[in-house]
Amino acid sequence: MKSVGFIGWRGMVGSVLMKRMKEENDFLNIRAIFFSTSQSGQAIPSIKNVSNKELQDAYNLELLKEMDIIITCQGSSYTENIYPKLRKTGWSGYWIDASSSLRMHNDSIIVLDPVNSKLIYKSINQGIKTFVGGNCTVSLMLMSLGGLFATELIEWISVSTYQAASGAGARHIIELLKQMGMLYNICSKDLFNDSSILDIEHKVTEVSRSPNFPIDYFSAPLAGSLIPWIDKKMSNGQSREEWKGQSETNKILGLNNQVIIDGLCVRISSLRCHSQSFLIKLKKDLSLDMIKDILKNHNDWIDIIANNPKDTISKLTPSAVTGTLNIPLGRLRKLNMGKRYLSAFTVGDQLLWGAAEPLRRMLNILIAI
Ligand code: HSE
Repeated sequence: MKSVGFIGWRGMVGSVLMKRMKEENDFLNIRAIFFSTSQSGQAIPSIKNVSNKELQDAYNLELLKEMDIIITCQGSSYTENIYPKLRKTGWSGYWIDASSSLRMHNDSIIVLDPVNSKLIYKSINQGIKTFVGGNCTVSLMLMSLGGLFATELIEWISVSTYQAASGAGARHIIELLKQMGMLYNICSKDLFNDSSILDIEHKVTEVSRSPNFPIDYFSAPLAGSLIPWIDKKMSNGQSREEWKGQSETNKILGLNNQVIIDGLCVRISSLRCHSQSFLIKLKKDLSLDMIKDILKNHNDWIDIIANNPKDTISKLTPSAVTGTLNIPLGRLRKLNMGKRYLSAFTVGDQLLWGAAEPLRRMLNILIAI
């Protein structure tokens, strides 16, 4: 049985990973060792099929070296601190990482096996030992449009994202909920009498601009608003989140001829589902039925949503998708721009396919080899 070290397993992504592993009985097939950056020596909560009961020190290189596989959701600072030191000791185990710091390294593979399993197996055979989860919007885009990428039908994509608070972190979700609470509290009585809607709106807007409105994490109101910038600024004016769209997609697909992808990434007030609106230029004119067939045959999770109001508002929203592995793809139609221009809209759980699930599946691939 392979020894697998878990680091950062109590954070938001780590907890979703644990939940999925329990649901799928993954702990049956491994010897799991749990590490902590702050609480080594303490007991871990009981997990079925896990016999090691004590937290180990996540900075202890001697212990880490004993692992066949390490899977970390601890974040970039931990990876940047420990990964080079561990490799320097000569450790040649597999490192699976949720953070972005090793993603674009030449000796790492970005994992999303329903999309790039061939590349994953080829790289394992070539001795690659570092496997990193992709950016959530990129993974969710590839899960939804995988069929068009696999058949090389895409000339370019212009994308607008609608990204959930969870993508920024757990504290950001809390801040968003506090903001929502403040907006409600300021007008709660007015909602049940005959107050003028413009007076209510004015009160709400004023409180969202007041100095005691909680904006420590987002730096701006998100409830009742949106933030059209995610991550740092790149020299070409893109945000780093926008830059990832093209660079990570092409790395995941292992493409020499780059597919062009660009657009705007926007934070909205959904909790844990990212949505994306695509304008796709196809290399050739195919019928909409043929396009739908190609898309729906790509993987087991995609669900083509009929382009009508009823199906769209009941199946293609964050509230319908949250907590599931479903990848609905709808609003499919040819655009006024011409027969090779297609629109599409997708929603996906940012913590499942966007973060934990590709890592869980990569772990299982490595367990099985
Ligand atoms: N960078 C993403 C976001 C999260 O901010 O929504 C995870 O890939």
